[in-house]
Amino acid sequence: MDTIKNNLAVFQTGKENNQPIIFIHGFPFDHKMWDLQVNYFKKDYHCITYDIPGLGQSPTGDGQYTMERLVDDLFNLMESYNLDKPVLCGLSMGGYIALRAIERNEGIFKALVLCDTKSEADNNAGKINRAKGIKEINNAGAEKFAEIFVQKCFSEEFIKTNKEEYEKVLMRSKKSDPVGLKGCLLAMAGRTDTTEYLAKIKIPVLVLGGGEDKLTPPSVMKTMGKKISHSEFLLVPEAGHVTSIENPKFFNTALEKFLKEI
Ligand code: MLT
Repeated sequence: MDTIKNNLAVFQTGKENNQPIIFIHGFPFDHKMWDLQVNYFKKDYHCITYDIPGLGQSPTGDGQYTMERLVDDLFNLMESYNLDKPVLCGLSMGGYIALRAIERNEGIFKALVLCDTKSEADNNAGKINRAKGIKEINNAGAEKFAEIFVQKCFSEEFIKTNKEEYEKVLMRSKKSDPVGLKGCLLAMAGRTDTTEYLAKIKIPVLVLGGGEDKLTPPSVMKTMGKKISHSEFLLVPEAGHVTSIENPKFFNTALEKFLKEI
């Protein structure tokens, strides 16, 4: 693990002269949600994962996050490692960061992978839901919040048949700092809408959506894919919102094919 500006915890695997891929995790998870991708791609690629502040091993700091600050962290990371045209791969909240980063400076990236995410900002119902989440954390604690939130992310089938793996992920989420969780909820609630930029994206984009994703359903992912000219949309079967963990075989094969083509 390396520590960079803002004490961000960064993990690098694979040869540094290989094509870099930056994986950005979703909420309320950490860099370990990419373990199965890092293991698969480390032979041929320089894989970089990191923990968003307040989650995993990155300290919470003041907990006053904005989406712009989370993008600044990504740019700082790229500068710290002098990364040349990385492929950017973000899942859900990681996708929000990736989309805004592309909107701010597309030229520094080689390609984009959007998993179980969306370009629209939170609508009023979404914002009210974030407020409910913060209230839940204050009243019932981070553990209870994580228990309810994480369950919604995975397909029922995955939870039933991969109990041990599910429990491991849940355990890590439950350990999250309540201030960090609330900071991320506020950053997501306050993020801008990146939909207008979709039609302007010039780099190749792979869009992956879980067939049973309740949070960003297939129709949302498909519609987003249609708005991006150089994009391919693939539905990940037997997976909910966390496609990288729920169907790594399909996920890795699709990503590998995309990486070979760009
Ligand atoms: C995530 O998985 O990162 C979250 O579901 C994103 C969100 O709550 O909007």
